[in-house]
Amino acid sequence: MQPFLFLNFKTYKEATGKNAVKLARIAQAVSRKTGVKIVLVVQAVDLRLISKGVSLPVFAQHADHEKPGASTGRILPFALKDAGCRGVVLNHAENKRGNGFVEKAIAESKAVGLQVLVCAESEARAVELARFAPDFIAVEPPELIGGNVSVSTAKPGLIVSSVKKIGEISGKIKIITGAGVKSGEDARLAVKLGTVGIFVASGVVLAKNRAKALSVLAVGLKEGLH
Ligand code: G3P
Repeated sequence: MQPFLFLNFKTYKEATGKNAVKLARIAQAVSRKTGVKIVLVVQAVDLRLISKGVSLPVFAQHADHEKPGASTGRILPFALKDAGCRGVVLNHAENKRGNGFVEKAIAESKAVGLQVLVCAESEARAVELARFAPDFIAVEPPELIGGNVSVSTAKPGLIVSSVKKIGEISGKIKIITGAGVKSGEDARLAVKLGTVGIFVASGVVLAKNRAKALSVLAVGLKEGLH
């Protein structure tokens, strides 16, 4: 299986509006060159723009669980699908929700045909969320997010053990490594430890040369396959 590279635009100015379009085009070029599946995780206000602008899959950074009707200010899975989204991220460490919410949001997202990546701050939480059958789980220790030490280097045991525990619940869930991933070696290790890819933000969005930063990670992922 080709590895996945989820690129979270977060709410960085460098990845908002016109800057988001530029970054999406860079990612598309890197994906074509390396053959790595790059998934763009984009702010709600930029989703339609990015979905139309590039052919890479686009995920939303959050969804609520309401169906169309009388609610205000919610982000509906139905509307995300209509805007061209392929999937949604739920329970990111910077936008956390309880299990009851996540269960309902996963169900509604899947009902409208969106793929779901849920984030978990620990192995125990990952195991709880695995029972709601998301497509992907990213295990991201919050203290490593945005830093320069990757989870694959600092906590390899956490990755290996999460892969095993989640696999015991369902063989269908793909596990992703996230938090502090910056180098090709971080990416290579993520695959070697048994996950199918990485979830990255600051290492690419804030890089001086974003094409280079992204290519290095993509190449690292491919090296991990061998
Ligand atoms: O969503 C990915 C994320 O939380 C990791 O962020 O900046 O450590 O790559 P970063």
